[in-house]
Amino acid sequence: MNGDKKTVFSGVQPSGNLTIGNYLGAIKNFSRFSEEYKTFYCVVDMHAITVRQVPAELRRRTYETLALYMACGLDEKKNTLFVQSHVPAHAELGWILDCYTMFGELSRMTQFKDKSAKNAQNINAGLFTYPTLMAADILLYQTDLVPVGIDQKQHLELARDIAMRFNQIYSDTFTVPEGYIPTDTMKIMSLAAPTQKMSKSDENANAVVYILDSKDDMIRKFKKAVTDSEAEVRYAPGKDGVNNLMTIYHAFTGKTFEEIEREFAGKGYGDFKLAVGEACADGLAPVRAEYERLIADKAFLESVMKNGAEEATYYARKTMSKVRRKIGFVN
Ligand code: TRP
Repeated sequence: MNGDKKTVFSGVQPSGNLTIGNYLGAIKNFSRFSEEYKTFYCVVDMHAITVRQVPAELRRRTYETLALYMACGLDEKKNTLFVQSHVPAHAELGWILDCYTMFGELSRMTQFKDKSAKNAQNINAGLFTYPTLMAADILLYQTDLVPVGIDQKQHLELARDIAMRFNQIYSDTFTVPEGYIPTDTMKIMSLAAPTQKMSKSDENANAVVYILDSKDDMIRKFKKAVTDSEAEVRYAPGKDGVNNLMTIYHAFTGKTFEEIEREFAGKGYGDFKLAVGEACADGLAPVRAEYERLIADKAFLESVMKNGAEEATYYARKTMSKVRRKIGFVN
């Protein structure tokens, strides 16, 4: 809680290439929280360096990520938008929480195991303590609710455990956060292998549609989408490709599945795929236009970062002074 409002915090990795799956499943809904909650959205550049980054690209993607989230509807006046490394309290609390997190707990994190298998030549300590920095992000702001994907559930549970442990040793200090892991949101599948989730790191360029793809690229990708040999636009088990396209078409047009089935009755998949591609491109055209406008205005983005960091610092300081006092640091 901060004041009379409950608090939402989420962190986003600085990567510019978000997919329509990220958009429909998560980002589009972020802006809704700001009506009811005090909201913090943080570009987590400190988490990003747990794997090797090209400095100029990390910097560019930090701007791009901020611009893209804003273009997707996060209003800087209604949300605190900031960059993690601009608020040193994240690192400070991260270290402190390291001392209240067990080696065994961190060893059990599946993301650590996956990432160390993938980066065998760079299994650094930051990769190992990634979840405590994430816990610090969350606990610094007395967060009630953390919207994250299912892949972050284990990290969130660890953050809760750390908060409860600290509270138990020193009396109430941190709000114990709840995850907000939407289960009924739209799950968008790969266009090339529609039984798998659309993933931004898919090597097959035709499998994934990015928010910032051009209209031509989107239409080309949808034309190549895998369907089936039935040539019938119908939502049914086993028709994964068609079901996925119908879900996307529904998301961008608001039409129900019955309406979509009627619209394409007697027509081939060619017409249907073209319609989905156009609906997607048209639906995202305002986001792309707003993104182009924002990314061209670096000074404005920097002012958003600066204001966001100041606002975040104000809340972070309150928590830090409590923490320092409780653990016995001299004031
Ligand atoms: N680990 C998250 C991810 O990869 C990003 C993240 C960092 C985060 N800090 C956070 C998410 C705090 C929620 C809350 O998606």
